[in-house]
Amino acid sequence: MRALLAVAICCCSLVAAGCGGGGGTTPPPPSFALTASPSSVLVSQGSTSARVQISVQAVNGFQGTVSVSLQGLPAGVTASPAFPLSISSGTSQAATFTVANSVARGNYNVTFAGSSGTLSSSAPLLVTASGAAISIPAQDFKKQVIYQIVTDRFFDGDPSNNNPPQSPGMYDATKTNWQMYWGGDLAGIQQQMAYLAGMGITAIWISPPVDNINVLANLGGTSYAPYHGYWARDMQQIEEHFGDVNNTWTAFDNLVAAAHQNGIRMIVDFAANHSNPNDGGEFGALLDKGQPFASYQNDPAPPNNLFHHNPTITNFNDPFQLQYYTLVDLADLNQENSQVDSYLKGAVAQFMQHGADGFRLDAVKDVTWGWEYSLANAAFTAGPTFLYGEWNEGGTSDPTYADSVVFSNRSGIALLDFPLANAMRDVFANNGDFHEIDDTITQENSNFVSPSDLVTFVDSHDLPRLLSVNNNQNRVNEALALLLACRGIPVVLYGDEQYLHNDTNGGGDPYSRLWMSSFNTSTPAYQLINQMANLRQANPALGYGTSQQRWINSDVYILERQFVSDIVLIAVNKSETMAHSISGLYTALAPGAYSDYLNGLLGGFSMQVSAGTGGNNPVTPFSLPPHTVSVWQASGAAAAPELGSLGPRLAQAGLTATAGGEGFGSSAGMVLVGTTAAAVQSWSDSSVTFVVPSVPPGNYNLTVQANGGATSNALPMTVLTGNEMPVTFTVNNVPAAAGASVYLTGNDLELGNNVQTPTSATGPLLAVQGAASSWFINMAVPAGTQIQFTFFQTLADGTVISEGSTHSYTVPTSGVGNIAVNW
Ligand code: NOJ
Ligand code: CA
Repeated sequence: MRALLAVAICCCSLVAAGCGGGGGTTPPPPSFALTASPSSVLVSQGSTSARVQISVQAVNGFQGTVSVSLQGLPAGVTASPAFPLSISSGTSQAATFTVANSVARGNYNVTFAGSSGTLSSSAPLLVTASGAAISIPAQDFKKQVIYQIVTDRFFDGDPSNNNPPQSPGMYDATKTNWQMYWGGDLAGIQQQMAYLAGMGITAIWISPPVDNINVLANLGGTSYAPYHGYWARDMQQIEEHFGDVNNTWTAFDNLVAAAHQNGIRMIVDFAANHSNPNDGGEFGALLDKGQPFASYQNDPAPPNNLFHHNPTITNFNDPFQLQYYTLVDLADLNQENSQVDSYLKGAVAQFMQHGADGFRLDAVKDVTWGWEYSLANAAFTAGPTFLYGEWNEGGTSDPTYADSVVFSNRSGIALLDFPLANAMRDVFANNGDFHEIDDTITQENSNFVSPSDLVTFVDSHDLPRLLSVNNNQNRVNEALALLLACRGIPVVLYGDEQYLHNDTNGGGDPYSRLWMSSFNTSTPAYQLINQMANLRQANPALGYGTSQQRWINSDVYILERQFVSDIVLIAVNKSETMAHSISGLYTALAPGAYSDYLNGLLGGFSMQVSAGTGGNNPVTPFSLPPHTVSVWQASGAAAAPELGSLGPRLAQAGLTATAGGEGFGSSAGMVLVGTTAAAVQSWSDSSVTFVVPSVPPGNYNLTVQANGGATSNALPMTVLTGNEMPVTFTVNNVPAAAGASVYLTGNDLELGNNVQTPTSATGPLLAVQGAASSWFINMAVPAGTQIQFTFFQTLADGTVISEGSTHSYTVPTSGVGNIAVNW
């Protein structure tokens, strides 16, 4: 916005001066114009802005002094020098703004108001307060709100990289060919930092930034550019369309630095499953920092193959096909090959060295599961990080749901919450019944060790946007509000806050990846995300709390989140037409009056709680109008340490882990793994980092003890035996037992402590193709240890057939392992 010239030229004075009379001898009256440059500043909590220059420009020979006051400055933001101040005509004055840590993240419109006698002029300034600068990586993402960006489709911050010399002709300036690059890049995301920070989001998930194929892939008569990033040619450097023509890390590093300065974490999408299409473009070939690394077309014969050369997956419920077949046409990497293993783990480590705070792991269902346990362990060993994987499944009755639970619980890789996403989409886009959402939350909360780490979403780049399914912005607001209040770490897909959608062919891929055409900070969805993201920081109930359905019918869902004395109650009525009478509602909120935390943004209102018993306080009945969301909350001081989070949940001795919660106190107390005190590295009231102690591997209760002695609730922690190496175990000559499943167990924690039950052991094993009595499985086991292992079979009726003998194997200290034995 430009400064307004609001000078006091009244028409009377013009008339008095005879303006209209044609004499033209009286000079126009003097006035002045106030300007502020720049007209917006981005400043993070605890820091001071760059200088803003406030100038008084003389108009028509104005001479004098202007008194400039500052209006609308929010509490906690201070200006230096203090206002009001005087600025003489023709001069300017620099000012800076300091934002206290207490200032809520968001956009604040302030005004410099200048006056001199009867003259006045004003200049606006937008102050965007972002989160405090981040210096250490996070392991606890539960309080974060993630914003997902398809880099190519967000903002073009550097037109010079649009048509790079090494990969020409893949760019469409008209943005009409949906399979071409459109110009968005890492610099573009950086340039929109104020927009992002003002929305309150605290993490950005970018599409894979690694170097992708340099030529179009002609597949089935259509030419495709890898604008989405999932067709890597070199995972060790940055794509030239997103960074620079030399594939350097500069643009990535700059973006990470800018994000961290504004309290925003960077999450990199990483695809370990494949390189690129095997039937076009670069035919699957992979480079390592520009040097040839793997050739799909000229791959060594097994067992030295870097790729699998199996058919395309047709049965997405078959664990063998999922892990070893080809996803569509994507050259399927053999992670059990030592070169591939170190290439992939090296790429992840390199991103961590460049400041990535976490990873979204692509297609985790399709990558060798045991190897992924070792990838997770390698990442956690390299430094603090957060991992979540894409296990695409329908819902909690999906045939792979049980495997997804085991995978996440044992690997420490959180999952994108597909079951909840599908339920939410059905409820909000297809007008489904809220019980679907509630049942999904209940089921998942009882299966996952850490349901608060599930990464929740309603829209994604792979699905039609909600608005394409049902063009109703109320429903988007309602879905976002519930998503941001639900347990799990919410993801907002770029553009949802602008109600972006393109409905061509139903709006799915590629039409859900449309160009981000506006950056309007006043849409209800943008405001909503801002408020709910701030609430997630302020009230630990959202990040750490339990979930309790308090009132439900097909249109109405009232959900309570509670973390000891921190409580958030959200009520959603998704009906477009019908008000619902809410009586018989109880809450854990203490008796009293509560106003809508969203200040009526989505039609919310105040409500009244009276005294009840057992944490069930009656709410005075009210009518919940159509398409309304109301949020009521209270945050209580912790009387004793309250533990809400642990990351990583599985770690070997010597790793640094983080416990999150509140009421830990300001001076260091103790962290106990079982009964063993861990060495504390840092201590604050809400976060403690500690070194995992040398205790026997096993499952422990983690507690935090305040300096005064009060002890927290416990969270489960698994102390692993050591660094985890991927080993492929094969057993031959297995006696045939009709319908039997084969399992592996062994004498360490990782293999199940010799317990011969399917839930404790590893498996079921997969059939070695073409060998009727041979079975195998890849599993992560502790480096350098000598393990004793054995196999057993289970029959449908639960009968266990034990192998009756054990095998011995020394796990390598690095790389990958392979052991084949006879039953
Ligand atoms: C899932 C991603 O989300 C999708 O966009 C991609 O095409 C496939 N994995 C393959 O990488
Ligand atoms: Ca560009």
